[in-house]
Amino acid sequence: MGKGRSREQWTAVVNAMVARGAKATDAELVQIAEYLTAKLGPNSGTEAPATRAGRGSASAPVAGRGPGPLGAGAANSHVVDDAGAERGKAVYTAECITCHGLNGRGGNETLPAEQRGPDLVRSVLVLHDRYGNEIGPFLAKNHPLRSGRKGSSLTQEQVGDLAHFLHQTVYYTLRSGPMLKVQNILTGDPKAGAAYFNGDGKCSTCHSPSGDLAGVGKKYDAPTLQTKFLFPRSVGFGRAGARTAAAKPVTVTVTLADGSVAEGVLDRLDDFNVSLRDAQGQYKSFKITPQVKVVKHDPYAMHVTLLDQYTDKNIHDIVAYLESLK
Ligand code: HEC
Ligand code: HEC
Repeated sequence: MGKGRSREQWTAVVNAMVARGAKATDAELVQIAEYLTAKLGPNSGTEAPATRAGRGSASAPVAGRGPGPLGAGAANSHVVDDAGAERGKAVYTAECITCHGLNGRGGNETLPAEQRGPDLVRSVLVLHDRYGNEIGPFLAKNHPLRSGRKGSSLTQEQVGDLAHFLHQTVYYTLRSGPMLKVQNILTGDPKAGAAYFNGDGKCSTCHSPSGDLAGVGKKYDAPTLQTKFLFPRSVGFGRAGARTAAAKPVTVTVTLADGSVAEGVLDRLDDFNVSLRDAQGQYKSFKITPQVKVVKHDPYAMHVTLLDQYTDKNIHDIVAYLESLK
């Protein structure tokens, strides 16, 4: 409790408690993580987005974008307010469903082209949205509504509720991949995907189509594949969340003044101390002085960074390429 943590880190703590048998509903777990993040966030003193979640302010600035204190990055994932999502569903049903489909998965082929709204669950705009800060301005730019009014006529509360609903749909989708339809996803160009993989994406610096990713297209269906490469360390609650929270840990290498080296899973790192647990399970703690060198390795750091770099086309091309690795 003495240390501020990002939402992602508190979520991991809560998940660890669930893994040890803590019982609560998903909504309660979200509330607990929200409370801890608000009270004991990474930068106490500044209002955390969690405290605004229920109010759904469309123009709220987004705190904590970019790497957190431990380079964890997604400190700012959108925390869904269930009541807001329920209200948002009503707005969605009234104003959006005819064009964007039943579960936000896109309008079907029978609609005229101008009414065939894209899949919002796989939308990069929705992915980057926090509490309506992307969806709000997008809708305000004359987006059509089913009622014939303009998107700009939606209130900030309605936009915030829509954001909760859409993010909830995204999270459900992340947790239960197989319920997805594969159509709309495999529209990319595998050749362009391969070029991105070996070029701008620098994926080939860590992965190889004949090594760790050999047969990955056989292992997962397309929606799962897309989720896997977008969020290899996806954080959620409940059993699935606990399982993914056990993914690869952040490690640290400490080189001491006398040249000796200690390595292991990072326990804590602040300006004064670093502690770790080595391969033998031994706990070690060191004072940080100018002679001590500390290098942290977050295996997922690159994937967090990439999330802000992909275009929609990159994502579809990569999925098409990965899907071809049978
Ligand atoms: C008349 C049909 C129609 C209605 C109603 C409609 N949309 Fe859309 N929507 C579209 C079309 C077509 C596009 C793609 C073209 C564009 O970007 O404007 C789109 C694009 C979007 C996008 C951008 C997706 C992306 O990744 O670029 C979002 C977000 C969105 N709509 C949300 C909504 C929401 C929320 C509502 C209800 C409040 C809504 N739309 C109502 C047809 C519609
Ligand atoms: C700096 C290293 C690094 C880079 C660059 C990188 N990844 Fe990863 N990727 C990882 C790590 C680490 C994992 C997690 C592997 C694990 O948990 O076993 C991962 C997981 C994945 C997975 C899931 C594999 C599975 O079987 O679950 C896919 C797919 C993937 N990456 C694709 C990509 C693509 C596509 C790119 C480029 C756009 C990319 N990665 C860039 C390090 C990297």
